[in-house]
Order: sequence, then structure tokens, then C-alpha cells
Amino acid sequence: MQKIKQVLISESDIKARVKEIAKKISADYAGKTVTLICILNGASVFFADLVRELDLDVRFEFMSVSSYGSGTVTSGEVKILKDVSYPIAGKDVIIVEDIIDSGCTLSYLKRVLEQRNPASIAVCTILDKPSRRKVDFKGEYVGFEIPDEFVIGYGLDYAGQYRNLKDVCILELTED
Ligand code: IMP
Ligand code: MG
Repeated sequence: MQKIKQVLISESDIKARVKEIAKKISADYAGKTVTLICILNGASVFFADLVRELDLDVRFEFMSVSSYGSGTVTSGEVKILKDVSYPIAGKDVIIVEDIIDSGCTLSYLKRVLEQRNPASIAVCTILDKPSRRKVDFKGEYVGFEIPDEFVIGYGLDYAGQYRNLKDVCILELTED
């Protein structure tokens, strides 16, 4: 069983932070066309909010990778389930993710995409759990560093549930 324990980051705090990140990205990439890659499904909500705050010429791409099963522990195995639909060679690319946890997913993905020779590649994530790293990885744009808790909402799920919550909440898992 599971239940929502508490709100960790409120809708209004998320909104304010998304605006700040977008401002920074807009300044860093001024005058450029940026290819934003949304990592499905978790980053979909953040992606939709972020792109509308960007003052840039943008292109959307979507990728799906397997990281977690239906539980809360990573398998350590990363597989590309859906790839981008247009080559990224020569493009300025930003990978948009919901959370960096062990770092396995993004370090793998960034390496794979780097091999396709983009002009540049950066990672933007709304959440980061630095204390959980299994591989050394740092995102260029990070919304919030959070403690080692399993969180849901704002795109993040537990077994497919809770993605539409407006706040980021801590989920408590109980024995029964
Ligand atoms: P990593 O490869 O361990 O960094 O895992 C990243 C992926 O794990 C994210 O894209 C999420 O889908 C999932 N994940 C990690 N921590 C959480 C969490 O607290 N709640 C929901 N999903 C999580
Ligand atoms: Mg995910």
C-alpha cells in the first residue's frame, strides 16, 4: 500500500522555478534554435510548462527509455523504447527529464546522443536526488535538489499513478 505523506514542493514554487530556469536557458541559447528532447513519460508535464516559458526558437522531440519497472528501485538497465524522429547532428540539444536519481538513465542517454554529433548537448531536470547517485552525473539546469524520498506528482509516478498531481509530494510505502 502507499499513501501521500506530504507536499514537498508546491505548485506555486514549481511555477516560479520553471520561469527562472527558462529565463536562464533563454539567455544561454539566445539567437539559437534549440532541439528539446522530452523524456517520456515523466518529463511531459515539466516539458509542457518549460517550453512555454522559453523565449527561443525551439523544436520538440520525444524519447522513451526504460529505467524503472513498476516499483521504486532502478533495474540499472537502460533501453531506448522510442527514439527521436529527426537527426540531431549539428543541433543544440537539451534533454528534458523529470528527475535524476542514480544517474544511470541520463549518463547513458547523454553518451548515446553525444555519439550523434550534436553541436551541443545539455540536461535540464526539474528534480535531482544527488545523494542517490550510482554514477557521477550533473545536470546543467536543475530545478530542485531533493532528499532521498520517493516522490510523485508533476509528471512523476508510482506504478503509473499520480502523474497529474500539481505538487511534488512524498509517497509513503507501507507493508500491507
Ligand atoms: P535514474 O536512472 O536512477 O537517474 O532514474 C531516473 C528515472 O527514475 C526518472 O526518470 C524517474 O522515472 C525514475 N525515478 C527516480 N526517482 C523517482 C521518484 O522519486 N519518483 C518517481 N520516479 C522516480
Ligand atoms: Mg521517468
